[in-house]
Amino acid sequence: MKARVVALPGDGVGPEVVRSALRVLEAVAERSGHRLELTEALIGGAALDRVGAPLPDDTLAACRDADAVLLGAVGGPQWDDPSARLRPEQGLLGLRKELGLYANLRPVSLWPCLAQVSPLKAELLQGVDVLVVRELTGGLYFGPRTLERTPEGERATDLLVYTEPEIERVLRLGFELAQRRRHKLCSIDKANVLETSRLWRRTAQRLASEYPDVQLEHQLVDSAAMRLVTAPASLDVLVTENMFGDILSDEASVLAGSLGLLPSASLGAGRLGLYEPIHGSAPTLAGQDLANPLGTILSGALLLRHSLGWEAEARGIELAVGRCLSQGARTRDLGGTLGTSAMTDAVLAAL
Ligand code: NAD
Ligand code: IPM
Ligand code: MN
Repeated sequence: MKARVVALPGDGVGPEVVRSALRVLEAVAERSGHRLELTEALIGGAALDRVGAPLPDDTLAACRDADAVLLGAVGGPQWDDPSARLRPEQGLLGLRKELGLYANLRPVSLWPCLAQVSPLKAELLQGVDVLVVRELTGGLYFGPRTLERTPEGERATDLLVYTEPEIERVLRLGFELAQRRRHKLCSIDKANVLETSRLWRRTAQRLASEYPDVQLEHQLVDSAAMRLVTAPASLDVLVTENMFGDILSDEASVLAGSLGLLPSASLGAGRLGLYEPIHGSAPTLAGQDLANPLGTILSGALLLRHSLGWEAEARGIELAVGRCLSQGARTRDLGGTLGTSAMTDAVLAAL
């Protein structure tokens, strides 16, 4: 089979971790007799610098035409001027919106050999296997915003908007994913304060009768943040709005041991998906062969599984990552000394 993948290296450590994931994907494709047609395109700060737009038209067109997109990260201090009209992050947000990728899956699986790397007590981590389902194209990130001068000074707004259909489609995916796992869905909101959360909660309640085999519970986001680090094994699938999901998934990465380990899949109605590590451009590590490539390599596995349907190959990558970790391969964030490319070599050797 032939598949077209667009790689968007982006900024900071993005190009390094994408290179690692592509090496692994190419090795897997070669071994399995599949063909991967890889093209590279600009996004984020790199695109701003080269062509003056964070999401150039030809990048978007190439992504629309592809079977899947693999992204590194966008952003960095050189583009952080708060009064700039264009920012790297707009490239990523625009891509998610334009491709209709409303659901962001962020699995947090524990590699048992890394239990000591997490700052949490090892006994808390026993049996942890959490899947965060983050709504990705609505909420505060995409509502109308304003910035105006008033007699009292400047005034800024970001409006948190959700429609019922937007909430329903991501909740349905949460229920369906729970059906394929441990049948528990925790819907996270702030229904004691926010109208959007009360709509979210009512919608979850309404759908629950269609999924009688799933145990639905609601939890407020503040106490959910605490539960994630005090009783993480009690959680199966979490489903939540865009910004809560952004924050909770970085918190959840502490369970695994490092932000650099977590992959993600952003999915919509069709097969086309966007795959990226959950971490950012890690500017202080950039260009020094210091970043952990595993989050991006594992995003490559999700790409094979969800967009190409190459389940055996996806599993192969995940097993190889598990094997090299259990043999002691560690980047610095995991307390080791391996660089980005040496860690990638270790994965390739374990494949
Ligand atoms: P970050 O995720 O880049 O870094 C947070 C911390 O985790 C840092 O200490 C960093 O060194 C470490 N880290 C991140 N990735 C790592 C890896 N692969 N290996 C080892 N350590 C790693 O978050 P930040 O510092 O808040 O943001 C930096 C920039 O990245 C900002 O411009 C932000 O907008 C952008 N960002 C982009 C994305 C994305 O492209 N999806 C996600 C988050 C942040
Ligand atoms: C992420 C990032 C992005 C987000 C930023 C860079 C726009 O933090 O992918 O988690 O908030 O979605
Ligand atoms: Mn984030």
